[in-house]
Amino acid sequence: MTLQISEIKKVLILGAGTLGLRVGLQSAISGFETTIYDINEQAFKAAIKTQDSILKMLVRNGKLNEEAVEQVKARLTFTTDAQAAADDADFLNESVTEQLDLKRDVWRQFGELCPEKTIFTSNTSYLLPSQIAESTGRPSRFCCFHFHDVFYANVVDVMPHEGTATWIVDFLMEMGRVLQQTPVYVKKENTGYIFNYMLMALIGAAGALKTMDIGSIEDIDRSWMGNFKMDMGPFGVLDTVGLDTAWHITSNQPDKKSQSFAALLKTYIDAGKLGVKTGEGFYTYPNPKYKEEGFVSGL
Ligand SMILES: NC(=O)c1ccc[n+]([C@@H]2O[C@H](COP(=O)([O-])OP(=O)(O)OC[C@H]3O[C@@H](n4cnc5c(N)ncnc54)[C@H](O)[C@@H]3O)[C@@H](O)[C@H]2O)c1
Repeated sequence: MTLQISEIKKVLILGAGTLGLRVGLQSAISGFETTIYDINEQAFKAAIKTQDSILKMLVRNGKLNEEAVEQVKARLTFTTDAQAAADDADFLNESVTEQLDLKRDVWRQFGELCPEKTIFTSNTSYLLPSQIAESTGRPSRFCCFHFHDVFYANVVDVMPHEGTATWIVDFLMEMGRVLQQTPVYVKKENTGYIFNYMLMALIGAAGALKTMDIGSIEDIDRSWMGNFKMDMGPFGVLDTVGLDTAWHITSNQPDKKSQSFAALLKTYIDAGKLGVKTGEGFYTYPNPKYKEEGFVSGL
């Protein structure tokens, strides 16, 4: 059964964390009734705080008015009730913690709970769709649909596995545009899609420069920012991504440099420093040092 964008009424997001909230919020902004499901009720508190600050930013930038904000909020529902979340869902994007076994369990659960029509997509950063497809129970309707930050970095990767139906790819390229993203088609399964593949190389190099004690965190960031006139360097990026997510990815790389960097990330995680979402990572938030005037010039 194929679906057109015009037939999508209810969007279901699994996971109310950093990305789940952003994708869900953009879905509601784009006019879809949107349900965000999480097992942890506590996650909703942080999600609503982030939601409010993103909506305020969009009002400040003239992208939404106060009336539209109320309509967006009315289209968003947060729930821990899996069956109610799955009922009548037309389109699902999964943004739960980056762990293969956990994702497979969640997909088995929602593969059974969702109606047959539901289109299944995952926002995984580094897993491959073929690793997850079978657990959904409907591999031909499953594809990776991977966002970045949604509001600041608005590119979405569409990466099918060999068994994904062609119409799903076409549908997602269009759905990406409807969600105000730039869709890019990843022709073959590739760990890290397109952008993250390049980013991994940068982050890996930054981690090695730190663990080999060649440069300080600040100088590594300063060097990148000063050369490319960027707003943040690799460690600022890591804080934004979340050090726990970064650890899941890095600790799975077998080489020595990645393992040393994973060990460093673990010391931050054990201290509860996960980055922007906990208020502290390599920098402290909301006013990290790299945003201070003179950080790059050192003046
Ligand atoms: N952080 C990023 O910059 C980024 C960017 C693109 C994609 N992603 C991907 O998005 C996914 C989520 O990453 P995140 O950074 O939002 O993580 P996060 O830790 O901020 O949020 C994950 C959420 O999943 C929830 N969860 C865990 N088990 C669950 C279950 N069984 N059912 C429902 N919810 C469950 C957790 O309670 C948490 O709220 C990952 O696959 C990650 O690779 C992250």
